[in-house]
Amino acid sequence: MRQLIAGNWKMNGKLAEVAGYAQAVRAATLHADLLICPPFTLIDRFAAALAGSGIALGAQDCHANPHGAHTGDTSAAMLAEAGARYIIIGHSERRLDHGETNAIVAGKTAAVIAAGLTPIVCVGETEAQRDAGEAETVVRQQLAHSLPEGFAGVIAYEPVWAIGTGRTPTEEDVAAMHAAIRAALVEKLGETGKGLLILYGGSVKPGNAASLLALPEVGGALVGGASLKAEDLLAIAEAAPRG
Ligand code: PGA
Repeated sequence: MRQLIAGNWKMNGKLAEVAGYAQAVRAATLHADLLICPPFTLIDRFAAALAGSGIALGAQDCHANPHGAHTGDTSAAMLAEAGARYIIIGHSERRLDHGETNAIVAGKTAAVIAAGLTPIVCVGETEAQRDAGEAETVVRQQLAHSLPEGFAGVIAYEPVWAIGTGRTPTEEDVAAMHAAIRAALVEKLGETGKGLLILYGGSVKPGNAASLLALPEVGGALVGGASLKAEDLLAIAEAAPRG
């Protein structure tokens, strides 16, 4: 199975950057699937710039309802219309900044699936939780309550303390957590759980990508800071093992 290398631009990026970035990623020959998740304002422009390239587009959040009186929110169907095929749900920055609980994440994830898109559901422990030896329990709890019935999509394991810090867990810790996530997915979803991609996210860079992406049960990466430069995201995709 090809790995998925997903770039999460967060609240960064301007219209003027789209053409150059799209041109750079279009020019590459890749053996991993590439996904760009820019802010909402750039999705439509990116969709035009990447048309026919096979490079997918995604969004970073959506509302749980398809439409209605929700000032400032955007639905999965609207994002699909703009060109998104994936939506990141429950990123730790959303859980923290916007008080998104597992129940809210489950509702949004169900909405993404109902709109015919693929959710990327984020889970991960804080540093205090890891230090207390609770990392696996926390992540299992998040999975148990963040995934709606009949879930089909992608999971991203992102230790909160590794996001944007330049720090990553040891290879053993990543492998152990991915194995635990796989076991939880199979427990909850049966056969479907065996085939879902589990991404690692948190300070993935060109320099550490090869060793992280080679670990068992790692199916790709969710890349924040390093995705803002096309050459860095492409270098990470280059480092993915051939599936
Ligand atoms: P980072 O962010 O690569 O900048 O650590 C990852 C993420 O938050 O998805």
